[in-house]
Amino acid sequence: MRHLMSPLDFSVEELDKLLDLAHDIELHPEKYAHACDGKKLATLFYEPSTRTRLSFEAAMLNLGGNIFGFSSAASSSASKGESVSDTIRMISCYADICAMRHPKEGAPMVASAVSSIPVINAGDGGHQHPTQTLTDLLTIRSLKGRLDHFTIGLCGDLKFGRTVHSLVRALARYEGVRFIFISPEELKVPEYIKEDVLEAQGIPFREVERIEDVMPELDILYMTRVQKERFFNEEDYVRLKDFYILNNRKMKLAKDDMIVMHPLPRVNEISVEVDKDPRAAYFRQVQYGVYVRMALILTLLEVNVC
Ligand code: CP
Repeated sequence: MRHLMSPLDFSVEELDKLLDLAHDIELHPEKYAHACDGKKLATLFYEPSTRTRLSFEAAMLNLGGNIFGFSSAASSSASKGESVSDTIRMISCYADICAMRHPKEGAPMVASAVSSIPVINAGDGGHQHPTQTLTDLLTIRSLKGRLDHFTIGLCGDLKFGRTVHSLVRALARYEGVRFIFISPEELKVPEYIKEDVLEAQGIPFREVERIEDVMPELDILYMTRVQKERFFNEEDYVRLKDFYILNNRKMKLAKDDMIVMHPLPRVNEISVEVDKDPRAAYFRQVQYGVYVRMALILTLLEVNVC
């Protein structure tokens, strides 16, 4: 039995296979409509979510399976003090697979250690968000045609943004990927990502503060919101929340085939005027998230569809 805690839990070859499966699901959804008949997915969300929880639920429903779960710690017995370990022992009796989001780093890992069903990390604190990374990889491969040899700019809250931490680890395994980190001083990408992931493998990166200075170089711009829920004081959040606002004027500096991605939700960091730009890929990214989560459920449940 396999769990998914980090995008690195899959080898590059296994990831290719997963993305191929997601692509086949996109082309032939009817083939997969009964692949999970009789199976149940539990969504255990101790933190708010729109996309991740609902796309997991849509994915299982698209596969013919059933879904149940909770969408906040307050509506579960966690509010009475039940531990993650005890909760997953219960859920293992009810479901075939589960997706867990938790504000504490490592909570899904704790669950996986005692679970008798596959556990998927649907975001743990500021640590990792592997299924967003699978979504991002499928989006890049589908829209750019490859996962190697490009320059990606990651912009915004690179300190607390778990989608950034997971994506950098995943892309670092592909040849010829250059990273440009665009952030204010206070929200720079953590040292351990730079030292352990990039410098250790000799992967080129640089850090800048002004987005305008690097726009013409980018093949992909990955915008992120400032993570209000991870700040210790409101004052810092208010000072930093509108540091970057991507608008049509800044988009004029970019390549014609650059794509703009964002894990969403967006707050102010992408002006709505950019939505009409054909390079805006963030709503297409959401659709890819359903295909890749369908592929992940099939893979972890070891369901083969001929
Ligand atoms: N991208 C993402 O994780 O969105 P939600 O927080 O809405 O799930």
